[in-house]
Amino acid sequence: MASNQLIAFLVLVVTLLLQYNKNTFVEAQLSVNYYSSKNYYSSSCPNFPRIVRMTISSAVLSEPRMGASILRLFYLDCFVNGCDASILLDDTSTFTGEQNAASNHNSARGFNVIDKIKTRVERACPGIVSCADILAMAARDSVVMLGGPSWAVPLGRRDSRTASQAAANSSIPLPSSSLSELITSFHNAGFTTREMVALSGAHTIGQAQCRNYRERIYNDAKIDRAFAISRQRTCPIISGSGDGNLSPLDSLSPLVFDNSYFRNLVSQRGLLHSDQELFNGGSTDSIVREYSQNLLSFRSDFAAAMVKMSLLNPLTGGDGVVRTPSCGRIN
Ligand code: HEM
Ligand SMILES: *[C@@H]1O[C@H](CO)[C@@H](O)[C@H](O)[C@H]1NC(C)=O
Repeated sequence: MASNQLIAFLVLVVTLLLQYNKNTFVEAQLSVNYYSSKNYYSSSCPNFPRIVRMTISSAVLSEPRMGASILRLFYLDCFVNGCDASILLDDTSTFTGEQNAASNHNSARGFNVIDKIKTRVERACPGIVSCADILAMAARDSVVMLGGPSWAVPLGRRDSRTASQAAANSSIPLPSSSLSELITSFHNAGFTTREMVALSGAHTIGQAQCRNYRERIYNDAKIDRAFAISRQRTCPIISGSGDGNLSPLDSLSPLVFDNSYFRNLVSQRGLLHSDQELFNGGSTDSIVREYSQNLLSFRSDFAAAMVKMSLLNPLTGGDGVVRTPSCGRIN
């Protein structure tokens, strides 16, 4: 009898160990079907993809730039301690988050659209879908709405309880960056140089403010003359005047997710200094030239790099929270 009890005890121990392994290893994986049906870690929310798609499509139809703003918001989130919705946390009198970090202040936008999705998702399935997953899906749908490639979005991220302005300041490259600084920032986040170039193709949509391209259009040598003059019309030389004036990052087709960003670079018409650094006689020239000539290779590399970006340090299982009822505050 004693040996039967011993065997029963051993079976229990092994079961607990397997359970422990499941928690430590399995939970670290995201899955495309995370909310499709109830699973070990979460109740389901089968309407979640449809709510995101419908809200993004109406937001982009009423203001096409919004697709660009949402895509950038996702990148700004993922580059700072991973895709954990840290950028969505609002500053309060006792909390300083990422929204006023150097690259985000008066620049990151689209928070209201994410809030709208969160409200609708909470109404459909309270407390189930994280803000980080909403942002990941919203970014994909934004790219698709503007004619870009699609990809399956792994889900199951949870939301941070914190944000870091210092990390945002140091992780997000500035438009004054050199090629080697860009390569280093992206290598620090785990990306190859080629993935960095592919992801930079996001600048095929959206707008930048004069303060971010003034130096380039007045002082850079490697710039198409006619292009510089035309941009100077919307961006006065005097610092402080017209700082917020907008210019399209891709002047050929600012509302279409295509490869014309790379064609611009080949003809010295990159808007940001950092853009033109990718085609300025250095190691990335050949990649830019390839993407400028091969739309399909850009589309598939961009989609693959977006999936990789979406997998940066997610909080999973018992880590982090699902913020409710809104994405701007810690529960
Ligand atoms: C390579 C390093 C990068 C630098 C230096 C950079 C810098 C910038 C700057 C300065 C702006 C204009 C912001 C403003 O004037 O308010 C901008 C806009 C934008 N960025 Fe980047 N960016 C980089 C990479 C990325 C990546 C990886 C993505 C996404 C995958 C991205 C997506 C966008 C989009 C879509 C916009 C337009 C946003 C809008 O119109 O609201 N950027 N970026
Ligand atoms: C981040 O940069 C902004 C703008 O340059 C600055 O005001 C802020 O103090 C910086 N924050 C930290 C924590 O370094």
